[in-house]
Amino acid sequence: MRWLRTIIRYFVQLLLHPKLLLISPLRLLVLLFSWVIPYLIFTNYLESCLLPLRALCYTQRDLLSTKPLAPDFDTCVKKFFPNREADPSNCELDVVPDVLIRPTLPDQPTRILVIRSGPGSLDYRNFIRRTWKKHVEQLLPVIFVCATSRNDTLRHEAEQYNDILQFNFEDSYHNLSWKMMAIYGFVLGQLPTIQQIVVTNDDTIVNVTALEQVLHMRDGPVMLGKVSRGYPRIFLPWLTWHVHSDMYPNLCYPLFVQGSSFVLSKEGAKLLVDNVCKVPMVHLDDVFMGVLSNCANLRLIHNEGFDKHIFDDFVVYHYQYSRHSANYLESLWNSSHLKTTKL
Ligand SMILES: *[C@@H]1O[C@H](CO)[C@@H](O)[C@H](O)[C@H]1NC(C)=O
Ligand SMILES: *[C@@H]1O[C@H](CO)[C@@H](O)[C@H](O)[C@H]1NC(C)=O
Ligand SMILES: *[C@@H]1O[C@H](CO)[C@@H](O)[C@H](O)[C@H]1NC(C)=O
Ligand SMILES: *[C@@H]1O[C@H](CO)[C@@H](O)[C@H](O)[C@H]1NC(C)=O
Repeated sequence: MRWLRTIIRYFVQLLLHPKLLLISPLRLLVLLFSWVIPYLIFTNYLESCLLPLRALCYTQRDLLSTKPLAPDFDTCVKKFFPNREADPSNCELDVVPDVLIRPTLPDQPTRILVIRSGPGSLDYRNFIRRTWKKHVEQLLPVIFVCATSRNDTLRHEAEQYNDILQFNFEDSYHNLSWKMMAIYGFVLGQLPTIQQIVVTNDDTIVNVTALEQVLHMRDGPVMLGKVSRGYPRIFLPWLTWHVHSDMYPNLCYPLFVQGSSFVLSKEGAKLLVDNVCKVPMVHLDDVFMGVLSNCANLRLIHNEGFDKHIFDDFVVYHYQYSRHSANYLESLWNSSHLKTTKL
C-alpha cells in the first residue's frame, strides 16, 4: 500500500504548503475533496485486484469452453485435481440423509421449487409465504429445505405450513453441497414423477411469469441459470469465497451456474448424484457442481434472468454480495407489479 501513503503524503504537503496557508478558495476546495481519491482507490482496491485475474482467466481457453477438459470422466477429474483423489468409500454425498420432516405435496408433481433455507431464517420464510410463494404455487409446488440446528423450531412451523423438508444433518455453509445432493437424491428416490427441480435461496424474489417461460426447456441433462465464465479462484483468505490451492490448484474455475437460483432437469440431477463421489470436494457448492458438470457432460444453459440484482426483467431476483433483509425484500415486492400477477 505504499502508493496509498504517497498519495496521502502528497495531499498533506499540498495542504501545508506555505503559499496555501492563506485560506484561499483553492485550498478550501482541495480540503473539501481531498478524501475522495484515497476513498475511491480504497473501495476499488479489491475489485482492481480481481480484474487482472479475470483477464487472465479469459486466456485459459479450455476452462472457458463448454467441452469437458478431457472426454473421459476420470481423466477430466485428474486434470482438475492432479494432486487429490476422490474417496468414494468416505463420501456421503450420494446417500440421502434421514428425512425428519416431510412437506405435504400434490399427487405426482412433475416439477418442484425448493428454497434453501437455514433453520433460523423464519423471517425469510415468512416473507416468501406472504409474497411470491402463493403466485408460484399456481405453477409448481414450493417447499423450503433445511437441515438441523441445535435449537430449531421447525417441527412446530411445519405443522402450521406443511411446506418444510428437513434432513438430519447440521445446517451450515460448508454442508451446502450435501444439502443440494440430498435434495436431488430425495426427489429422484421419493418423487419419481418430477422432471424439473427449480432451486433458489430464501433471499430471492421469483417472477412467476418469467419462470413459466423458462420451464419449457430442452430434455436431457441440463442446468439452466446464470452461467459464470472466467472466474478466478479467490486466494485472499479473508473473503468468504476463499479456496486454497491445495483444494483447487487452478487459478480459474470452469463454467458454473450461480448457486442462488437455477433449474435442473431430472437427468441432470441423476448425473450429479451418480458422479458426485468421484470428484474431490470443493466447499463452494456451485464451483464444485461446475467441475462435476464439466466432466460429466451436464449442459449448462445461460439465462440472464437468474441471480439478477437489478429489479427489472428478472426470473429470480437475488443480490450476491450481501444478504438483503427480509423486510427490504418484502418492500421491493410490495412496490412491484408482481403482486398482481395472475397466470
Ligand atoms: C433456542 O431458541 C430460543 C427461542 O427461539 C432462544 O431463546 C434461545 O436463545 C435458543 N438457544 C440457543 C442455544 O440457540
Ligand atoms: C455437516 O453435517 C454433519 C452431520 O450433521 C456434521 O457432523 C458436520 O460437522 C457438518 N459439517 C460442517 C462443516 O458444518
Ligand atoms: C416478470 O417477467 C415478465 C415476463 O418475462 C416480464 O415482462 C416482467 O418485466 C418481469 N417483471 C420484473 C419485475 O422483472
Ligand atoms: C407489504 O404489503 C403488505 C400488505 O399490503 C403489508 O402488510 C406489509 O406490511 C408490507 N410490507 C413492507 C415491508 O412494506
